[in-house]
Amino acid sequence: MANKQQLILGLETSCDETAAAVFDAQQQRLLSSQIYSQITLHEGYGGIVPEIASRSQLEKVDVIVQAALDAAKLSVHDIDVIAVTNKPGLVGSLLVGTCFAKGLAWSLNKKIIGVDHLEGHVFSSWLNTDGTVRTDVVFPYLCLSVSGGHTSLYLVQDFGVFEMIAQTLDDAAGEAFDKIAKVLGFGYPGGAIIERLASEVAFQDFFHYPRTKIHHDRLQFSFSGLKTAVLYDLVKRGAYDLASGPIVSKVTLELQQQVASSLLVAIADIFCDQVKAAFKRLPLVRALTFVGGVACNKYLRGRLEKACHANNKVFFVAPPQFCTDNAAMIAFVGSYKACRQEFSDLSLDVLK
Ligand code: KG4
Ligand code: ZN
Repeated sequence: MANKQQLILGLETSCDETAAAVFDAQQQRLLSSQIYSQITLHEGYGGIVPEIASRSQLEKVDVIVQAALDAAKLSVHDIDVIAVTNKPGLVGSLLVGTCFAKGLAWSLNKKIIGVDHLEGHVFSSWLNTDGTVRTDVVFPYLCLSVSGGHTSLYLVQDFGVFEMIAQTLDDAAGEAFDKIAKVLGFGYPGGAIIERLASEVAFQDFFHYPRTKIHHDRLQFSFSGLKTAVLYDLVKRGAYDLASGPIVSKVTLELQQQVASSLLVAIADIFCDQVKAAFKRLPLVRALTFVGGVACNKYLRGRLEKACHANNKVFFVAPPQFCTDNAAMIAFVGSYKACRQEFSDLSLDVLK
């Protein structure tokens, strides 16, 4: 007999992806996950243009929700709960998703749950590639969440119970990848390009960029110093002009590869250093998970996995499709909130 809150429709529109997913809480299984990415709309601008993002969300939201329902072989009437990202993100983009979700909930008399996008990322690694839910994870564990907008380390005690124990003092690591990729003459986003270039030269550390020195009595990240060091090194090499940008004739493929590889190794060192410091401080944690768009990076996964094994900790990650923004993670968070009757109401608002 079906549980009353069995079928959860997840909706994610916080930034430049329009995503919808259906999660079956009783079977503990994802039935569908659909994503429309706006990357091509923004790549010429070197970053996300909020106005373009919200307009595109408006054009796509109903199409993507219908695609998720079709893929799950369900009608909207079969859904029990609508879980929607209501913070943080671009206000215009968030409003599209929350207004759409509220309209559906009101017109069909369904329950609604507001989900924090960051909570979605934190629990995204519970989903396996085939949509089933992990059964091999034990609390408490650490979660390193890294994207274009944040770099944070959390202590996770239970579903929905987690606290930030470290964050970046300035730029997010994904932002550092994106900005350096731009300096090297590439479009947005730059993380995957940096990874590809670095792999072509076997992830060597050519330039030994400075690792931000952080007091070991504090857990923190910082990437703006590293970013500036890379930039000024390129200026010194005559490959970048602070007024006009990359000097194309000097930005050779060899230089791009060496900068990308050195940057990636530096960021991996910073992550491993802080994770090891956190393991020391919190000996009861059993594992580390790595989530967010930057967690697609295989080199970083490998380095963190090694750091875990050296400290007798388990390492687990989400498949790449659940690392970048998606609605599967929102529907999954919605499922445990629904189980605890943690519903919102139609006054659900967006928060930056
Ligand atoms: O989580 P996400 O899709 O969106 C945000 O909430 O920001 O993360 C996007 C970020 C971008 O900065 C992008 O450059 C980075 O994830 N990224 C990567 C890789 N794939 C995406 N960074 C490093 N290596 C990758 N393979
Ligand atoms: Zn995100």
